[in-house]
Amino acid sequence: MEAISKKFFLHLSSSSVLDRLAKKWGPKFGANKIVGGETFEEAVPLIQDLNSQGLHITVDHLGEFVSSEKEARQRAQECIQTIQMISSHQLTSQVSVKLTSLGLDIRHDVVWENMIAIMDEAQKHDVVVTIDMEDSTRTEKTLEIYKSLKERYDNIGTVIQSYLYRSSEDLDDLSSYDPYLRLVKGAYKEPGKVAFVEKSDVDENLKHLIEKNLLNGHYTAIASHDDAMIEFTKAFAVENNIPTDQFEFQMLYGMRNDTQMALLKEGYKVRVYLPYGDDWYGYFMRRLAERPANVSFAIKGLFKK
Ligand code: FDA
Repeated sequence: MEAISKKFFLHLSSSSVLDRLAKKWGPKFGANKIVGGETFEEAVPLIQDLNSQGLHITVDHLGEFVSSEKEARQRAQECIQTIQMISSHQLTSQVSVKLTSLGLDIRHDVVWENMIAIMDEAQKHDVVVTIDMEDSTRTEKTLEIYKSLKERYDNIGTVIQSYLYRSSEDLDDLSSYDPYLRLVKGAYKEPGKVAFVEKSDVDENLKHLIEKNLLNGHYTAIASHDDAMIEFTKAFAVENNIPTDQFEFQMLYGMRNDTQMALLKEGYKVRVYLPYGDDWYGYFMRRLAERPANVSFAIKGLFKK
């Protein structure tokens, strides 16, 4: 049943017709519980509130694929404005970006110039930018761009997905860059030739990546709602004398709020990934695919005005 609903929602997530309709509707069906608003201005009071509770944030302007250079440059400008507002409102927030929204699929020079413009602004305001990881056809290009940017800027991170067979080697390859990495299980539909099929293998590999990155001495963000991963990290850190300022836990906005607060109380750093924007549809569908329990509030949302 879980596998069927996962396939169903991942299939829906790529429907451009529903995506267009969703933009017209605004966040519906419970999406407003996991999306911070349609604009960054709308999200500011929410970020201030989360910051005041001790939570760190990373904001993500929703939207993945752009079809024109003009649209990609516009997305970069919006990202630059977000960085300026983080600074002017003195928010404790990073920025997460998806390279496809900045022209990755259009031309290398488009995405590169957009990232340089974003990173120059982020450096000026001392804001960290993290490149989200998208599907496996884009992993190599994303990591190449990350490495080139890391040679110029310190305030940049990216993501490694434990469902990919290649990820352990990617950690080795990135190690000399002193990377800032977010470790996740992976959210896209991937073929068995590149990714583990069994969930238990994905989980084991995440543990392996956490161990490896922490032992390599690199700052590590463990982005998972899974108690098993959280408890594993805590115990591993204690056993290996890894200081608590060498890692942080990350969770998505609206997920496991009690756990976020409990971790904070225990003295761990917690960062909430807060998406905003009118392009909420694909993000919402991927979250439904991950956790069928999320369907319940979506179904309830169908009947709310
Ligand atoms: P998983 O879905 O494996 O669930 C394991 C167990 O955790 C469940 O059985 C349940 O017990 C518990 N659990 C999970 N969700 C819960 C909930 N909402 N409430 C209560 N219990 C819950 N992916 C990607 O491909 N590229 C990226 O850049 C990112 N970025 C990213 C940032 C952040 C901050 C997070 C948290 C996640 C991502 N992801 C991502 C998504 C990630 O790859 C993965 O798909 C989801 O986090 C789901 O995997 P989990 O490890 O959270 O738990």
